[in-house]
Amino acid sequence: MRRSSLIVLLFIFALIAGGCVSSNQQTNTGAARKKKGPNEPISIGFSMDTLKEERWQRDKDLVEKHAKEVGAQLSVQVANGDDNLQIKQAENLLTQGVDVLIVAPHNGEVAASIVEAAHRQGVPVISYDRLIKNSDVDLYISHQVVKMGEMQAKYLLDHVNKKPANFVIVGGSPTDNNALLLHQGQMNVLKPAIDRGDVKIVTDQYAKEWQASAALNIVENALTQANNQVDAVVASNDGTARGAVQALEGQNLAGKVLVSGQDADLASLKLIVEGKQTMTIYKPIQPLAYGAVDAAVKLARGEKVDTTETIDNGFKKVPAILLEPIAVDRNNLVSTVVKDGYHTLEEICANLPPEKCPK
Ligand code: BGC
Repeated sequence: MRRSSLIVLLFIFALIAGGCVSSNQQTNTGAARKKKGPNEPISIGFSMDTLKEERWQRDKDLVEKHAKEVGAQLSVQVANGDDNLQIKQAENLLTQGVDVLIVAPHNGEVAASIVEAAHRQGVPVISYDRLIKNSDVDLYISHQVVKMGEMQAKYLLDHVNKKPANFVIVGGSPTDNNALLLHQGQMNVLKPAIDRGDVKIVTDQYAKEWQASAALNIVENALTQANNQVDAVVASNDGTARGAVQALEGQNLAGKVLVSGQDADLASLKLIVEGKQTMTIYKPIQPLAYGAVDAAVKLARGEKVDTTETIDNGFKKVPAILLEPIAVDRNNLVSTVVKDGYHTLEEICANLPPEKCPK
């Protein structure tokens, strides 16, 4: 009897140990890395979550442009916010025989399975803009997202002229690691102000799928709850900022309440010039897109990619390249986004009386 229990115990132990080893093998080792020779052409797969926000079309265009410049073949797939579709599309890219995958994940946790599938075929994976969590992903290229959250909150805190000031926080999609990092940065700045009694949080919520309509709802409800006594809305990107502005317009408060954003979308730059959105975070996309393509070519050739830091994704410290974001308001819009050719002043000021246009 005792002997049989021992056997059962040993069996269970072997099962548990076997599980760990096999999951390690899947995520950690994978198949032998494919390596392309110096003159062999490289084939890159780019798996994108969405083209919904203006910036992603730019990412796509610039990745395509630079892939052409370096002589790499490129296949792009867009999943339109559907996790299963993104996994299927990534599998298709692997079946096509791409040498390296660049993935902008819809859901940072779910996309770990894309890394596992790629590694089973010896294909390295770059996590693009958004971090793929809990996986053996090879490289992460993005901007300094926590710093962006800090910049948004600090800008509003520096410009609000009430104490205590009532703040509303509108996060992005909770399945996007960037939304969580932005919130972390926002709270790094707001928490001490809350503790000092300078800031009160009316509400702090995530907008599902980064939807402007979700942001609109959050801000409408916050206005009702606070009897319209809202001084600032920390909106995490420009889409949600425009939802917030729409809610404020409904109460004739647009232009009276500070609103942050991110992406330097044309529609938001127009609102900034009109005074309805206060600031945005400008992330030049070209260094990100070109950096990803250059890194993809190197990884496919088995060459070293220079990185600046590492980011813990829950599984390992991922080598990372994190680019600098720039805070933009009406005052520096011309010397930043316009100077870089990101948007022209004509586009931004179209339909506005010329005297309203910043010089
Ligand atoms: C990106 C933002 C974008 C948002 C919604 C984030 O992960 O960093 O630039 O606005 O997703 O697509």
